[in-house]
Amino acid sequence: MAPTIIVDSVSKSYQVHKKSPGLWGSLSSLVKREYTDVQAVRDISFLIEEGELVGFIGPNGAGKTTTLKMLSGLLYPSAGKVQVLGSDPWERKPEFLRQISLVMGQKNQLWWDLPAEESFRLARDIYNIPEPVYKKTLSNLVEMLNIGDVLNVQVRKLSLGQRMKAELVAALIHSPKVLFLDEPTIGLDVVMQKAMRDFIREYNKHFHGSIILTSHYMDDVKELCRRVIVIDKGHIMFDGLLADIVKKYAKNKVIEITLEDGSKKEEEVPRTKVAEATAKILSKYTVVDLTVKEPEIEDIVREMFGKQ
Ligand SMILES: Nc1ncnc2c1ncn2[C@@H]1O[C@H](COP(=O)(O)OP(=O)(O)O)[C@@H](O)[C@H]1O
Ligand SMILES: [Mg+2]
Repeated sequence: MAPTIIVDSVSKSYQVHKKSPGLWGSLSSLVKREYTDVQAVRDISFLIEEGELVGFIGPNGAGKTTTLKMLSGLLYPSAGKVQVLGSDPWERKPEFLRQISLVMGQKNQLWWDLPAEESFRLARDIYNIPEPVYKKTLSNLVEMLNIGDVLNVQVRKLSLGQRMKAELVAALIHSPKVLFLDEPTIGLDVVMQKAMRDFIREYNKHFHGSIILTSHYMDDVKELCRRVIVIDKGHIMFDGLLADIVKKYAKNKVIEITLEDGSKKEEEVPRTKVAEATAKILSKYTVVDLTVKEPEIEDIVREMFGKQ
């Protein structure tokens, strides 16, 4: 079977209006508009199979949202080819739109002045979902997200966390096979972040949907995704198992010691110098315990981004 998502040598640049500094610049730019290209995505390729839950990580401005917009048909690539569920997303065919959903943590798609349930019913009508199917899906989602009590409350009165949950229900009411989640946990408190993660995991398991999740919280990705794609400045830097990032990029190990008074110290040393460093530490301190650990994934990823 063909992969659910095919991204083949895709680039995207935005044309932005260039304004020279100063008053003269403002005036002359009124007469003669000049444009520059911002290259948001540079020649990226990857495949995603049915049922995969892949983390798509990178710093701000790396090109994550741009990529998800191309995958959902909101933007057309400047070069290369995108295929999702056998379709070109840009054609935005109704059969295609019925099978995907894009959820953006910073944007809301619900009607602000209406109770969330009204927005769900609108989605039901747009997607032509038969009433019994709608009812069943809705009750499943409401139960998984535990938001039954606020469905009749005006959306503007919901907390951010409640609203994000309602956004998810709206985005999933047509049971899409492919789900793009763009920073779904942004701004949420720790409890809500966990609720979101549990839901995403469960949704992926039960409905076997393919999910791409972007986040700049490494915790989301660590908890949910085996595979990650790391993007920086429009380039893909890594595509593989999260655990392999450590093997490939961690140049150091961390030696942690516990001293007699119970206090702990940590020292980062190059992988090749562990034995030597350990000997030195043991001769310098009275150590009750010593462990050699891999550095935190967060630190490795931060270093990957910093290096270029
Ligand atoms: N509509 C736009 N017009 C011009 N530049 C844009 C637009 N959207 C994004 N960009 C630029 O493209 C790059 C990638 O942005 P984006 O895809 O939003 O990154 P991310 O989601 O990883 O933070 C950034 O340099 C950003 O400033
Ligand atoms: Mg973004």
